Amino acid sequence: MTTIGELLKSSTTRLRASGSESARLDAELLLGWAIGAERTAVIAHPDAPVGADAATAFEAALVRREAGEPVAYIRGIKEFHGLAFEVDRRALIPRPETELLVSEAEREVAWRLTSAPRSPGTPNVRIVDVGTGSGAVAIALASLLAARRMLPEVTILAVDSSADALALARENAVGHAVADTVEFVEADLLPATEGPFDLILANLPYIPSAEVDRLPVAAAFEPRVALDGGPDGLAVIRRLVASLPAALAAGGSALLEIGFDQGPAVGAIVAGLPGGWSCRIQADLSGRPRLAHVERAATTRTGGR
Ligand SMILES: C[S@@+](CC[C@H](N)C(=O)[O-])C[C@H]1O[C@@H](n2cnc3c(N)ncnc32)[C@H](O)[C@@H]1O
Repeated sequence: MTTIGELLKSSTTRLRASGSESARLDAELLLGWAIGAERTAVIAHPDAPVGADAATAFEAALVRREAGEPVAYIRGIKEFHGLAFEVDRRALIPRPETELLVSEAEREVAWRLTSAPRSPGTPNVRIVDVGTGSGAVAIALASLLAARRMLPEVTILAVDSSADALALARENAVGHAVADTVEFVEADLLPATEGPFDLILANLPYIPSAEVDRLPVAAAFEPRVALDGGPDGLAVIRRLVASLPAALAAGGSALLEIGFDQGPAVGAIVAGLPGGWSCRIQADLSGRPRLAHVERAATTRTGGR
C-alpha cells in the first residue's frame, strides 16, 4: 500500500510541473483532505499507509489542482479569521488580508458600544457588509461580537448582487450559528430601503479589468464579478462612495478594502463628497496601504478611537 510520504513526494513533483508555486503545501493540504486528517498529521506520519479510497480521492483532487483550480475550492473549505468557511465557485475565496477589515470593524463596533452610556432604547449599531460573497466579513464579525455578548446591540445586513454568492453566505451563516443575526439581501450595492448605517464594510471588486485577465490561472475559477473593478479598478467603489451621503449616518464610518496603490485615488473620490468627510488609509500587517477609513462628521462625538 502506498504511504503518505510516497504520495507527497510524487504529487509535489507533479504539482510543481503544473506550475503551482506552493506545490508541497498544496499536496499536504489535499492529501490531508483526502484521508480526513489535519495537515500536521500528514507531515508527522510519512510512513502511514493510504487506503485505496483515499488514494483515489487524492488523485482526483490532484488532477483538478493540476488544471489550476484553487486548493480551497477542491477542499471546499477556507479558514478566515479563525473560522472555517464553506467555499465553492459561487463566491470569491476569502483572503487573509481581508481579516484586517473584520478586526477594524470589531474595534469600531466595540468603541461605539462602550464609549458612551447606552440607556434602554438607544438604537442598535447598524452595520452592513456590501459585497458579502461567502459571507466571510459579516459572519466573522457576528461571531466576534457574539463572543463579546454585543450581538443584541447591533443589526447586521449583508448584501451582494450575486444570488449564488448569497446562497453560499446563508449556508455559512447557518454553519456558524449566526443565521438569525445576519440578514442577507440581494441588491446592487446598498438597498435604497435600508439604512442609514453607522458602519459600512466593503470588500468590493477593485482590480482593473485588464489586470484580471493577467491574474494567475486560479483566479479564473472565481466569479469575475468578484474581482473586476472596471477600467481603473474603482468603478464599483466610486459608486459606493457616491452613495455614502444617503447611506451613512452622521458620525458613521465606512471601511473599504482597496488595492495597495489606490489610496490616493480613493482619498480624492472622498474629497469630492459634499459636507464633512475624511479619509485615512491604514496599512496591513505587511505594511501595504489596504484599508480606507471613510468617516462622516458627527454633530456630537465623544472620546477617541
Ligand atoms: C472581492 S469579493 C469579496 C467577497 C467577500 N466580502 C470577501 O471578502 O471574501 C466582492 C463581492 O462583491 C460582489 N459585488 C460586485 N459588485 C457588486 C455590486 N454592484 N453590488 C453588490 N455586490 C457586488 C461580488 O458578487 C462579490 O461577492
